[in-house]
Amino acid sequence: MRKMIAAGNWKMNKTNSEAVEIVSKLNELIADVKGVEVIIAPPFTALSDVVKVAGKVKIAAQNMHWEEKGAFTGEISPIMLKNLGVEYVILGHSERRAYFGETNELINKKIKSALAHDLKAIFCVGEKLEDRERGNTENVVEDHIKGGLEGITKEEMMANVIIGYEPVWAIGTGKTATPEQAEEVHAFVRKLLTEMYDAEVAGNTTILYGGSVKPANSKALFSKENIDGGLVGGASLKADDFSIIVRNAL
Ligand code: PGA
Repeated sequence: MRKMIAAGNWKMNKTNSEAVEIVSKLNELIADVKGVEVIIAPPFTALSDVVKVAGKVKIAAQNMHWEEKGAFTGEISPIMLKNLGVEYVILGHSERRAYFGETNELINKKIKSALAHDLKAIFCVGEKLEDRERGNTENVVEDHIKGGLEGITKEEMMANVIIGYEPVWAIGTGKTATPEQAEEVHAFVRKLLTEMYDAEVAGNTTILYGGSVKPANSKALFSKENIDGGLVGGASLKADDFSIIVRNAL
């Protein structure tokens, strides 16, 4: 179901006690907010305690393995996340693709597993600077989307898949895509979803923009027709800043 979402991806930041403090504060700051879903993805080590203080804030994991259990040292399974009360999982983040070699095929396995375990997937796609400069943005985004969503049904798309468009050149660089640049790709993603599924799926899928979203630029981005909120890294680490971004999604 398409809705406005402000999601914070904390990456490898914040200890358990810091995470509990920030999420508690955020929950107070957004107490009166209606009509925007607020999600925080803390590190795995904080999930268990953060879900207990989350209140209105929905909790996401930043990654997971596709198997339920087994000899996969260092990995976390979907049933472990479900057992904690985690609702969402970010999959296919560009840092996972770039530093940990995650491919479309592997991300597809993870998305299928998340959906099979009733976790909602925040599925990330996006081009690198050289792709954009060569005019390959749409090809790369299409390749990510088609690869990641291979075999995912219309029903699964409608119920449990959120797409995050995150141009790699805008992540953590302070260089945001302009609202127009972002809107262009979001509209392209919706067109692609119409071709792959139908207009109902395209119209009902939440598509978030990510890449240096800040309190100051979020309103202009979120006001675009096809941008349904943000996936925010750096600016989600402070409850005050993030609560402004949440309000800008109203
Ligand atoms: P950033 O990160 O907001 O710090 O650019 C966004 C992301 O990686 O999701």
